[in-house]
Amino acid sequence: MSHAVITGTGLFTPPDGVTNEELVASLSKANERWNAEHREQIESGEVAERDMPSERFIVKASGVGHRYVMDKSGVLDPDRLCPRLPLRSEDELSIQAEICVTAAEEALAQAGRTGADVDAIIVGCSNLQRAYPAVAIEVQQAIGAGGFAYDMNVACSSATFAIQNAVDAIRSGSARCALVLNPEITSGHNNFELREFHFIFGDACTAVVLEPEEDALEGESWEILGTRLATKFSNNIRNDAGFLNRSEDGVRDPHELVFRQNGRKVFKDVCPMVAKHIRSHLKDLGVPLESVKRMWLHQANLGMNKLIAKTLLGREVEPEEAPVILDEYANTSSAGSVIAFHKHRDGIAAGEHAVLCSFGAGYSVGSVILRKRSD
Ligand code: COA
Repeated sequence: MSHAVITGTGLFTPPDGVTNEELVASLSKANERWNAEHREQIESGEVAERDMPSERFIVKASGVGHRYVMDKSGVLDPDRLCPRLPLRSEDELSIQAEICVTAAEEALAQAGRTGADVDAIIVGCSNLQRAYPAVAIEVQQAIGAGGFAYDMNVACSSATFAIQNAVDAIRSGSARCALVLNPEITSGHNNFELREFHFIFGDACTAVVLEPEEDALEGESWEILGTRLATKFSNNIRNDAGFLNRSEDGVRDPHELVFRQNGRKVFKDVCPMVAKHIRSHLKDLGVPLESVKRMWLHQANLGMNKLIAKTLLGREVEPEEAPVILDEYANTSSAGSVIAFHKHRDGIAAGEHAVLCSFGAGYSVGSVILRKRSD
């Protein structure tokens, strides 16, 4: 069985950036209007007044300072509060495939490969723009890859779950050059109308190239010592948008058809689950905690990441040990931990260990234990 190594990573960052200040200004305007329009129902107690958002709360509660989105004008328009994405014809590359191709090109260039070398593509993300044909198959055609391609969804954990599938394919010999892609257009499923959710997410797409150790060309590469996935059902993070919506007999709150969560409960349930998961994974692989030089954790909340790292190591961690990208990117769902890996992996010597870990809805947790192979 071949050992799988990561030979390249890539990142697509949308050109439109949105600050907390801009987001708060737009939602405040929208809330003032909503409250004025619903004055009578608010006074009769039928509906609750919408409270104003605050920049101070956002930074303090989450560590999010800014995010990138596919369309800033729609997101900040108080009458719309969601991106404005022009409809594309069937002959054009779809938007998720397009951002996948950009991220894939960077990752393949880093690996010294081209699309023609790829024989497996897995697109994993929280929301796919259509049921079929798979976005991954569209990407396969666009980059001239062979083999097979498919889409999958394990919400924020989609990257590590897809990496495990790619590793399994390489180990078993069913693929020799796999591409894992995470096109997260979170602005399409975020709830920009409610202050408890409007600041959470940002858009991005990541790419990871995986190959058998013996095929890796010269240059930086990361040996995958092991992958481990775990799930446990919870309703605390949920999005009910789906193909049965139009057939459902009953009245749904439209806020159920976008992201929603009970953030406090998620924080309390998921932190210990993740720390325990990583600890047992390292132990079973015989990797001492002290030899872990970096942790690229899922980027949902700064406090969560600090707590997980502290629980694991038994001490406060230095910022460079568990890099944070929330200040610039916000929560980019499955792309978050891979963005941290892509941007913050300098200063690790060959032979040193690191952990890539994502977690989120499901609940789900995935860890990938890495050893730097070469510079
Ligand atoms: N501006 C001002 N006030 C806000 C606000 C905003 N944008 N959003 C919420 N508040 C208010 C709430 O209404 C609440 O008011 P109340 O006390 O009068 O009821 C108060 O601030 C505290 O809200 P709460 O939701 O309990 O805050 P929190 O400390 O739990 O932080 C999250 C919220 C989302 C940042 C936090 O729970 C979190 O990050 N959880 C991790 C889970 C996660 O992000 N998962 C994503 C998928 S992995």
